[in-house]
Amino acid sequence: MKSSQKKGLESIVSSKVEFDCSLKQYTSFSIGGPAAALIELESTLELQPLLAFIDGEKIVWRVIGRGTNIVVRDEGFPGVVIILGKGFKKVSGSDTLGNGKRRVAVGAGHNLSKLSVICAERGLSGLEFSCGIPGTVGGGVIMNAGAWGGDMSRVVSEVTVVTAAGKDVVTGERLNFSYRSWPGFKKYMGRGIVTEVALILDSAEPSEVQNRCKEFLAKRRKQQPVTLPNAGSIFKNPPGDSAGRLIDLSGLKGTKIGGAAISEQHGNFIVNTGGATAGEVMELINLMKEKIKSDHNVELNPEVHFI
Ligand code: EPU
Repeated sequence: MKSSQKKGLESIVSSKVEFDCSLKQYTSFSIGGPAAALIELESTLELQPLLAFIDGEKIVWRVIGRGTNIVVRDEGFPGVVIILGKGFKKVSGSDTLGNGKRRVAVGAGHNLSKLSVICAERGLSGLEFSCGIPGTVGGGVIMNAGAWGGDMSRVVSEVTVVTAAGKDVVTGERLNFSYRSWPGFKKYMGRGIVTEVALILDSAEPSEVQNRCKEFLAKRRKQQPVTLPNAGSIFKNPPGDSAGRLIDLSGLKGTKIGGAAISEQHGNFIVNTGGATAGEVMELINLMKEKIKSDHNVELNPEVHFI
């Protein structure tokens, strides 16, 4: 990155800009090379000028949320990585809409799992599935995060996207979610950032919602390798089946390349057993894809995003 561009970035944002910053510490996988620049943006007012500058300079950029669903390549990222800080983590009050429904607006940088705990305390039901999902609300919307039969599509009513040109509030048919994706976001790729999300939830007894959260959390701890660094499910499930089941059937659990291993607990997870590189993860991913194709004639597609 040119020094004029570095100075430009520093003049726009009030937070510290980290140059050549290792992304390892910003990913749940603890894997990845450096970003040319990393900004934890604190103020919503700084977002539009930042995007306008980056676009004008033709610098590539990405938002990484809590880095829970990504594999950052060992070469790193040549542009600006943005993390949504304090100003993007606010939770509104719960407005009553009638019919037992209530609306909550939340900043896209808020931790999704923590939001589900807040909703449970307030007696708001609908987000229990996300208890234990470690990513942000914004990331959860873009990939339509889901578990235990629930997903974001069932509770999201409005998504605010900010681009260099302005703000767009997306509602109704434009919220065309599908399995683990929000296709409507494609038009904003590389241009816009989800900054706020409104949810419509059902009024319920707080203790009942809290109990459901506890059950889901216990199931997650039992079935998934929550104590080792990982990036959640590596592959999307093929229609009508489970990627983890197929990987298990093929006897791949425990397979290790360097520090990266297919979890003994769940076949669709790769864990970093210590010092794994993105290259080793990619090798394992290719091995899993090839074996599942030859054993079951099923094409697995990654759920994780590569940076
Ligand atoms: N199974 C095996 N062996 C394994 C793993 C799973 O036989 O190693 C079997 C299970 O016994 C079960 C079936 O496969 O009969 C499905 O497994 P599981 O309930 O673990 O669900 P999944 O389809 O593997 C999905 C989501 C998870 C989510 C769980 C719980 C995807 C790609 N994954 O996993 O989401 O937590 O359901 O609802 O949709 C994520 O997206 O990162 C994620 C972890």
